[in-house]
Parts: sequence; C-alpha cells; structure tokens
Amino acid sequence: MSQAELPRLTVIGTGYLGATHAICMASLGYDVVGLDVDDRKIQKLRSGEVPFFEPGLPELLAKTLESGRLRFTTSYAEAAEHGDVHFICVGTPQQPGLDACDLSYVEAAVRGLAPHLTRRCLVAGKSTVPVGTAPHLLGLLRELAPAGVEVELAWNPEFLREGFAVDDTLRPDRLVFGVTSEWARERLTAAFRPILDLGTPTVVTDLATAELVKMAANSFLATKISYINAMAEVCEATGADVRDLAQALAYDDRIGGRFLQPGLGFGGGCLPKDIRAFAHRAEEIGVGQAVSFLREVDAINRRRRSRTIDLVRELLGGRLDGARIACLGAAFKPNSDDIRDAPALDVARTMHGLGATVRVYDPAALDNARRMYPELRYGTSAMDVARDADVVVLLTEWAEFRQIDPTVLAQVVRRTRIVDGRHALDADVWRSAGWEYRALGRP
Ligand code: UDX
Repeated sequence: MSQAELPRLTVIGTGYLGATHAICMASLGYDVVGLDVDDRKIQKLRSGEVPFFEPGLPELLAKTLESGRLRFTTSYAEAAEHGDVHFICVGTPQQPGLDACDLSYVEAAVRGLAPHLTRRCLVAGKSTVPVGTAPHLLGLLRELAPAGVEVELAWNPEFLREGFAVDDTLRPDRLVFGVTSEWARERLTAAFRPILDLGTPTVVTDLATAELVKMAANSFLATKISYINAMAEVCEATGADVRDLAQALAYDDRIGGRFLQPGLGFGGGCLPKDIRAFAHRAEEIGVGQAVSFLREVDAINRRRRSRTIDLVRELLGGRLDGARIACLGAAFKPNSDDIRDAPALDVARTMHGLGATVRVYDPAALDNARRMYPELRYGTSAMDVARDADVVVLLTEWAEFRQIDPTVLAQVVRRTRIVDGRHALDADVWRSAGWEYRALGRP
C-alpha cells in the first residue's frame, strides 16, 4: 500500500495507551494527529517529551516528530478534518466509591469529535469499556455528526502492557476487530496493514465480543495471579513453599508459568478496575453469578497487602509503631512510573498509618508518589532509605533491587531483616549473609 493510500489516523486521548498508539502508528508510516484536552500534555508531546515513563517511547517520539508524520492538537475540529480513522484511547477509570467504570471521558471524546465529522469515517474504540457500551456511542455519533450514518463505529481493544508498550503495539500477539460492516473491516485492515503483514493473528468479530475480549483477558490474568496467591495462603498454613509449587505447575504447559508469580499481587490502572467493572456489568445484565469468582479474585489480591504487613509486623516482634521501615518500590510493577492502585504504596501508606516511619525509594515513580502521598518520606536510593532501618520491605521487583548485595546493605541498616514481597531475591544468599528473610507462602 503506498503512502497515499494509507488512511489518515487520529488518536483521541494521549495517555499511556493513546500516546503510544499515536507514536507507533506514525513510526509505521501513517500520518497521525494526536488529540488531548490537556494542553500541558500536548505541549510536552510537541516538544518531544513523553509525559510518563515508557522504555523506547521517547526515542520513537523524537524520530516521528522529525519525520513530520506526527502532530498533536487540542482541537477536535482539526482532528476531525484530518482523520479517516479516529481511535478513541481515553481512560475509563473506576468511579470513586463504586465498582463500575467511569465512561464520562469516552462519552466526552465522542461528543467532542462528532459535531465536526462531516465526511465518511470510522471511529474505532480502543478504551476498555463494559460490554454494551458501543451501541450507545454509535447512537451519539449518528445523532451529533453532520455526516450521520456515514460515520461507523468499530471496537479494537488494546492489550499493551506498560513497560513493553512499544513492542506490544508494533508486534501485538493478536488484533481484534469488532465491526458491523465490510467497509469498517477494510478500514481497520488498512489502518493496521504493516502489522497484519507480519502475520499477526486477527479475530474479526461483532462489537460486543470485541468489547468483552479485553475484560475477559484481564480477568483471566488476574485470576491466574490470585490463584497462585491463594496457593501461597495454603502453603503458609502447611509449611509448604509456593515458589517450588509455582515452578512445578509451570512445567505443565497447559498451565504455563506466566502470571504465576506469587507475591504482593496485582495493581495498576487495568487489572483491578477491570475485574470490578466486569463483575459490576455482569450483575447489571443478569449474569453476575457467572463471574462472581472475580470478587474472590479481588479479595485474595487485597489480602496479599495485609499479609505482607503481617510479615513485617512479625519480624518487628508484633508492633509497627515507632519502627523505621525502608520500602523498596512504589510503582505498581517494575519498568513503570505508574502508581495507580500500586500495591507497594498501599502497603507503605498503611504501615505509615500504623505509626511506622516509612521511607520509600523507587527508580521511576518517586515524583508521582510524592505528589500523591506527601505524607510519606522518600529517599534517593535503596541504600539511602535503608539507612538505620529496622526492616527492609521489597515491594516492586525492579532489577536494581534484585542486584542489591546483601552484605553491603547489611552495613547501613539497624537490623538485618527483610520481607521480600515479590519473591525477587535469593533467600539462601540473603540468609547466609546474615539476614532474617521472609516471603509470603514460604517457610
Ligand atoms: C495489563 C495487561 O497485561 C494488558 O494486556 C492490558 O492491556 C492492561 O493491563 P499492565 O497493567 O501494564 O497490563 O500490567 P501487567 O504486566 O499485566 O501486570 C499487572 C499486575 O500484575 C502488576 O501489578 C504485576 O506486578 C502483577 N503480576 C503480574 C503479579 O503479581 N504476578 C504475575 O505473575 C504477573
């Protein structure tokens, strides 16, 4: 397909998902306009700065800006004028105090774009939404767009992982096209041509299935993590070792070892809110029982956080107040600065609330953590926060924490006691260096 035949793309919402999608599609040769209502974000992107931590993305942004194929705007009129295919990539966070997700950003994006759509085009939703959202959005589009029925809607869920976002976007393990016409399918095919040419498996389906795929995938992953963490609870009661158990399960290739790492459990902007929104939506449509296990998956995951604090308390002889605790990690997972529903910060804040002096270090998420939780203390390195600590708690498994030399760390702490919340360290090495080592689900 020549450059002239490539559809022109817009990406609405330039957060983790949208910025990555816009930059990656421009790097594949598409002419892309990225839109956000947050002017500061747009200014940053225009000047070549990625507003969040994502390996490889700043380099790709620089390259694509230079190519002239990528522009950023806050104007819906400009986006509508440019795009043949408009990708909706705005967030769908959990509603405060509720399990349902907040669709107001998706709706605002459609309401912002639609009045400027004056010619035939495809709007493709990428945001994670409850099943049944698309027909409502299509109704809005057709009601508000001057082009009326010429505007079509497709659903194209996105499965990228933070920390691997560029690779997951350029070389996804599958594409899902939820469409209602051959034309929409053809448009999406044209919009992903270079990725399809890699032989990427593609599922073409209806809108409802496409909406469901993402919720189903994230629910499965969350369930797998909570499954192994439930086994950790059984191990704790029996003196068994969940690490060996997980390893033995992983050799069964029907089970597989991925997402079977026991520990502090899952967090982030997706898994926790998606399983809650899914359970909520299922209840609304009368099939709550079918996914009621997701409530248990959530409960197991929450217990990991309190059990981790129990381990710290045990090491401290029963009391947290007055103790000096070094927390290694704040991000919800390594290679990210994202602290949304981060288990690490949840644990740190709870221990602070219980009267401990908590000092936190994270290689990437410190600015975000400081802004959100100014009540905690922060340090400049693992060594720095560990100084005079009564206990060290590893909460996010960054590579640099795995590489810590226990004999060196032993020189700065007050007591050589460590809770490995992520099963990231070699227990034998730490114990032989004189540390009291504890991890969930291990003797
Ligand atoms: C997830 C999905 O993987 C992705 O497909 C979707 O598009 C968005 O949500 P992400 O939130 O970036 O991606 O993180 P992921 O790498 O999936 O990890 C989720 C959480 O599970 C992290 O908190 C991680 O620490 C935890 N986890 C993961 C475990 O506790 N154990 C594991 O074995 C794997």
